[in-house]
Amino acid sequence: MSESVRVLLTEEEVDKRIKELGEAISRDYQGETVHLVCVLKGGVFFMCELAKRITVPVTMDFMSASSYGSSTKSSGVVKIVKDLDEPLKDRHVLIVEDIVDSGRTLSYLIKMLGDREPASIKLCTLLDKPERRVTDVKVDYTGFEIPDEFVVGYGLDYDQRYRNLPYIGVVEFN
Ligand code: IMP
Ligand code: MG
Repeated sequence: MSESVRVLLTEEEVDKRIKELGEAISRDYQGETVHLVCVLKGGVFFMCELAKRITVPVTMDFMSASSYGSSTKSSGVVKIVKDLDEPLKDRHVLIVEDIVDSGRTLSYLIKMLGDREPASIKLCTLLDKPERRVTDVKVDYTGFEIPDEFVVGYGLDYDQRYRNLPYIGVVEFN
């Protein structure tokens, strides 16, 4: 069986949308410093591109979480593999994620980070698959809503591969 990747969103489309998100975030956080929290590894490509488009002061931190359960279905029990380096107290936190799928990982993380007394906490995701939602999550900034297909590229992997693609694609098995 061979594998190929069909383009869903081109590099130009993704870059254009990230620029728009950066402009919206810069407007909304006027006069503040925005503290970007990247969820590794998938969020890292998006966060770097987004940060370059934000014109208010930016600080950044990184965390890594893995959800217990099978690889295709997240359980909602999230293990923090790497926690943030810095406290969130009184900061304007913007969580940056690659994709919101069932919503279980994000709803857990938002609650956990919200307990650290940030001044505010919002969520920015490059992709959203609303059809797949099982847990309610408020997404403040969305790049693209996509259908229920398994996507790769721009940080997203299939078995750790394809993260480096500069576009979003769907893996197809032939
Ligand atoms: P959930 O929202 O808790 O179900 O899990 C979201 C996580 O599952 C994301 O952060 C991704 O790591 C992974 N994920 C969900 N959908 C996809 C996909 O289409 N491609 C690659 N990873 C995905
Ligand atoms: Mg992820």
